Amino acid sequence: MKNIFKIIMLVSMGLFLNSCYYDAFPEELDPVDPSEEVSYQNDIMPLWVQCVGCHNGNEPPDLRDENSYNSLLNGFVVPNDADASILYKSLLGIDGVSLMPPGSKWPNSKTDLVKAWIDQGAKNN
Ligand code: HEC
Repeated sequence: MKNIFKIIMLVSMGLFLNSCYYDAFPEELDPVDPSEEVSYQNDIMPLWVQCVGCHNGNEPPDLRDENSYNSLLNGFVVPNDADASILYKSLLGIDGVSLMPPGSKWPNSKTDLVKAWIDQGAKNN
């Protein structure tokens, strides 16, 4: 009887911990379809929620909603050229640019979305 109780406890603890795991690490986004136009407001800006804790006006780029577009276009994004953009390099941690967010690279689904937005002209759409 005691063993059954222990097993039930362990199984439910396992399920509980698992659900926390998925809450803490958001799921992969759908793969980017390059033929679809990426929207800054709807697709890109919401991603900065994971950056704004640090990039809140003191550390450039300023990634707060109302400032992020202008701040990014002020030297961190080269429209139509993601590979030359510091923003995109920071998401990959390449060419001497520190990886952002520090210590945990985003899944390709997210970095590809940012790349597509820049390569489509980095519009404020
Ligand atoms: C824990 C704090 C922190 C978080 C979270 C963070 N950054 Fe940063 N970021 C920094 C600091 C500090 C610097 C400046 C020093 C450096 O380059 O390492 C920086 C620099 C940058 C730069 C400029 C790099 C350069 O060489 O000019 C970019 C672009 C950037 N971050 C983008 C982002 C993006 C996008 C995110 C979210 C995906 C993010 N950061 C998340 C702290 C953070």
